[in-house]
Amino acid sequence: MDINKEYHKNVVNTWTWDFYNKYKNSPWRWADLPFRDHITKQNLNHSEFFDKKITHKIKNISILEVGSAMGSAYDFMKKSGLIDLSNYTGVEVSKIGYSYCKKNYPEGNWIHKDFTKWSNLEKYDYSFERNAVHHMPSPIEQYEKILKSTKVSFITCFRSCLAGETIADLNISNFKTDTGIYYSSIINLFELIKLAIPLGFKNIKIVFGGAHEKISTNSNDAHFLSEKVNPDKIFLSRCRVLMIKSDSKSKPKIKFVVRPDTLLKNFEACLLIKKTLKEIKINF
Ligand SMILES: C[S@@+](CC[C@H](N)C(=O)[O-])C[C@H]1O[C@@H](n2cnc3c(N)ncnc32)[C@H](O)[C@@H]1O
Repeated sequence: MDINKEYHKNVVNTWTWDFYNKYKNSPWRWADLPFRDHITKQNLNHSEFFDKKITHKIKNISILEVGSAMGSAYDFMKKSGLIDLSNYTGVEVSKIGYSYCKKNYPEGNWIHKDFTKWSNLEKYDYSFERNAVHHMPSPIEQYEKILKSTKVSFITCFRSCLAGETIADLNISNFKTDTGIYYSSIINLFELIKLAIPLGFKNIKIVFGGAHEKISTNSNDAHFLSEKVNPDKIFLSRCRVLMIKSDSKSKPKIKFVVRPDTLLKNFEACLLIKKTLKEIKINF
């Protein structure tokens, strides 16, 4: 039996179990969201693009959240009073997540769907996802769908690697719940960047979160990574990437941010990121 083929048959149940209720209180910050209130100003300089403070209301916009869970991002934006949520859409596969949002935020457009099966996406000004795409098969294809439907900016947070191809295979890397098995995909940071630039996302900010915590190599454990994958060799890590669309024909601007202590602990990884980004910029 190919467990990757079986994934879609059970994905709703896999994400619908008691433990899921923990997502009710997930904390959110502006840094996790794609809004930049300077975006409509003329002659932006690069650093202004990445200022994360929201200082005035952002109105008349549409928003897509992938993996909206129990609506904690929606709740954060609603409580801020700064984001126009009248055209917000949240897509979520979990019955617990979807039902909770429908009940508690009935004004939102909540869609109960396996995102990987959603092909006819509308256009949205802003889109975001946090740690949801890396639980799906073919994560780069999922990003492509989101980016093609995004008009202004997108932000994502994911389990990353810096060497070797993106890994999305349940036999190699997975999580298990009481009700099923799901992907623990490892997304190559540079594959994502090389996807985004030709789609017009020329202003990119990468926040490198450093090495990922150790994952068990015992296939019975709840989080499993096969011994076939050497975490040090692929630079198994975490990243947050903000991408802003620009019509300009100019070269991509890619800002790389890392905390000083993370830089010291991950010096080789940071050098590799710097070097590869330089090559990417030259080639585009
Ligand atoms: C780790 S949780 C993150 C939740 C939330 N984004 C956050 O940061 O707190 C991953 C979310 O993605 C959802 N998800 C996973 N696979 C999905 C799929 N194929 N389609 C839609 N949602 C999915 C899960 O149900 C879950 O709500």
